[in-house]
Amino acid sequence: MSSEGPFAKRAKLNSSTGSAESKPWVEKYRPRKLEDVAAQDHTITVLKKTLQSANLPHMLFYGPPGTGKTSTILALTKELYGPELAKTRVLELNASDERGIAIVREKVKNFARLTVSKPSKKDLEQYPCPPYKVIILDEADSMTADAQSALRRTMENYSNVTRFCLICNYVTRIIDPLASRCSKFRFKALDSNNALARVTQVATQENLIYEKGVLEKILDLSQGDLRRAIMLLQSSSKIVKHLETPEITALTVDELAGTIPEDLMENLVSIISGADLSRISEYINGLMRSGWSGAAVVNQLHEYYISHKELSTAFKNQAAWNLFDTDSKLTNGTNEHLQLLNLAFGIAELHRKEI
Ligand SMILES: Nc1ncnc2c1ncn2[C@@H]1O[C@H](COP(=O)(O)OP(=O)(O)OP(=O)(O)O)[C@@H](O)[C@H]1O
Ligand SMILES: [Mg+2]
Repeated sequence: MSSEGPFAKRAKLNSSTGSAESKPWVEKYRPRKLEDVAAQDHTITVLKKTLQSANLPHMLFYGPPGTGKTSTILALTKELYGPELAKTRVLELNASDERGIAIVREKVKNFARLTVSKPSKKDLEQYPCPPYKVIILDEADSMTADAQSALRRTMENYSNVTRFCLICNYVTRIIDPLASRCSKFRFKALDSNNALARVTQVATQENLIYEKGVLEKILDLSQGDLRRAIMLLQSSSKIVKHLETPEITALTVDELAGTIPEDLMENLVSIISGADLSRISEYINGLMRSGWSGAAVVNQLHEYYISHKELSTAFKNQAAWNLFDTDSKLTNGTNEHLQLLNLAFGIAELHRKEI
């Protein structure tokens, strides 16, 4: 047995370094403490205050994806109970499909009914360890209205021994009686400075080499969703890792995100403005043959025309209608190629009228 010892140890070491490498960066760089959560200053200040009094209300966190809701509640419970006690005091339910009435009745009730476990002396010295349990219902907006109603009673019945934290993207999908039982905390999409600081930190810690402007591009594409930004960064780094110079370029990011590279878009809008129908159709045929997605073209054209400084409001207005129409038809599953041709011809016609 003893001769196996060192080997067993080495195998364990290897496997642990392996898992650290393949660990998703969103987990690796998830804020561990409340103060590490970026850009949600107001929420964090209020939560820190409640932490001091250790008397949590029921809470409702809402806001767009990837803005720190799940990270915040996980950090909060760790600061409340410490990592050990948190295991028995916190119940996290987050699979959207496990949310029928049955689950609310069974899992939540059973957990809420259990008597609270005693904190160790060491935990008590370091953490507030209040005498209640926390139930986290992530993605609460995907619970059926019936399940939400059922939750109302459960929350009331066990309020002396539990606190609930509901998390959702769309606060309007939470039924009023439930929302009114909670303190609400809004999470904002991250502003570009905070998001850039965070992504740069990840890139530096991972020793990434990247072209100037790539991080800004990643943030542009993720629109305030830091999870998406970090995932894009990790996927890009995986792609370039085996290259001779592992540099992340704008093209790497475009290919991953399925966005059309800027030079192709510039060509497209310039050809559309020329209003030569055969050139337009030739170019769009090329785009389609290269496998670019029609929806991405529509999105990027939308951004281009709406933010254009010189085009008239009337032009933008009509172009927006055309884009909207194409978008809705694409969503309904019509032929991408034909829709794009129709869109481009429509906008070309607007250009022709403007001349
Ligand atoms: N405010 C933030 N400060 C620091 N990191 C953040 C922040 N928001 C998001 N992140 C990063 O994005 C990842 C995902 O965040 P989190 O799971 O907390 O998002 P969420 O708001 O719960 O999103 P969803 O609504 O999609 O569940 C985290 O692991 C972290 O790396
Ligand atoms: Mg979440």
